[in-house]
Order: sequence, then structure tokens, then C-alpha cells
Amino acid sequence: MDARSAWKQQAAERAVDFVRPGMVVGLGHGSTTVFALRRIAALIQSGGLSDVLGIPCSSAVEAEAQQLGIPLTTLEAHPTIDVTIDGADEATLDLDLIKGGGGALLREKIVAQASRREVIVADVSKLVPKLGTHWPVPVEVAPFGWRTQVAYVASLGGDAVLRRAGDGAPFRTDQGNYVLDCRFGTLDDPQALAARLGARAGIVEHGLFLGLATDLIVADAEGVRHYTLQRK
Ligand code: A5P
Repeated sequence: MDARSAWKQQAAERAVDFVRPGMVVGLGHGSTTVFALRRIAALIQSGGLSDVLGIPCSSAVEAEAQQLGIPLTTLEAHPTIDVTIDGADEATLDLDLIKGGGGALLREKIVAQASRREVIVADVSKLVPKLGTHWPVPVEVAPFGWRTQVAYVASLGGDAVLRRAGDGAPFRTDQGNYVLDCRFGTLDDPQALAARLGARAGIVEHGLFLGLATDLIVADAEGVRHYTLQRK
């Protein structure tokens, strides 16, 4: 395993320490959280974690969790989640995030907003001084009129590119929507951008997760660090 994958694993496994028997657990999407899924499954199998129910953030995670033998439930049956473990594309030390590199941003945000505790796990490459340093902001849009959203993003100073799947067709989210990857440069006022994106018909959701994470666990060659939200 390469160093970055090992750091992902260390961060994800540390987050599983927050999962207690009887909890409802949000299962995030991505290559980091998959290590948490495997750890949860191993604990269930060994009898170290009982009565845990998972709520997956994507159809891919649902399939993975089923294969691993993690019992699942729904937000309809359990509208409040005890703890969610999810990844991020970028994270600041204020615990603001860009998410959606995997296209699961809508379900991830619904799950985050339903969670008492939202634990983000990442290798050190995800830490940035300001959002937008490396990643565009993913924006999930309705296919109807999607080109009008490209123009809207341009009016906000961004450059929107339609995400495509491996076969060249537009990438489709679990909801059947498109994703625009929107480059704005580094964001001085992510709250203002989030408000503008959130106000637009046809924009289903955006990948700015502001004030939603409660914990950030980051691993690198020095070890694992745990940051918690300091509410202002
Ligand atoms: C999924 O839509 C994203 O929000 C992921 O959580 C994010 O892309 C992190 O993925 P990795 O753990 O694979 O980097």
C-alpha cells in the first residue's frame, strides 16, 4: 500500500472509534471512507460492535456495505444519525469542505445535516488554507436547462465544465442529474458563493459544506491529528 492510502486508512479507522453499539451511522462515499466501512464490518463480525445500522450516502456505498455485511437502514426509518464518517476533496482547519468529487454530494449533504456528529476523514493532501486551492466546486444540476447554469456560474466569476463518465457521456448522479465542476479560484467568501448557488433554480445542490463537519481527522507521516469545530 502506498503512503497516501495508508494515511487514508489510519484516518478512517480512527473515526470508527466514535461508533458505539446501537448507533445509526452515516456511511460516506469515497476511497477514504471505504477503510471505515471495512473496519466497521470487521468489528461487527468479531462481535466488537453490535446493533449498528448504516445509512449509505450513495448506491455504490450501499452495494459495498451490503457486500461487507453491514446492516443498513434508511433516513425514513431513522431520521437522526448518531455519527457519519465521510471524506472530502478539500478541508480547511475551520472544518469547511469541498465535497462531491465522487458525485455523491446531494446525499452526503442530506446525511450530514441529519447527523449529530459529522466526522471527516482525510489524508494530509486534502488540507488547504482556503477552499478552491486545488479543487473546483462540484455543482449538481438538473439536466433540463443545464447550459443556463454554465452561464450563471460564469456570471459569478466561475468556469463550469460538465463532468463526463468514462464513456464520454455526461456523468449522472444517483438522482440522474448532471455535475458541473466549477472553478472559481481560491474562495475568499465561500458563504456568499454558497448563498448564490443555493438560490438558483435548477441547481440541485453544491459541494460547499460549510459549518457541517464537527470533527476532522487527518493523517500524514507524523501520525493522526483530530480537529474539532470551534464554534465562533
Ligand atoms: C464524494 O462525492 C466526495 O464528497 C468524497 O467524499 C470525496 O471525493 C473524497 O473522496 P476520496 O476519499 O476518494 O478522496
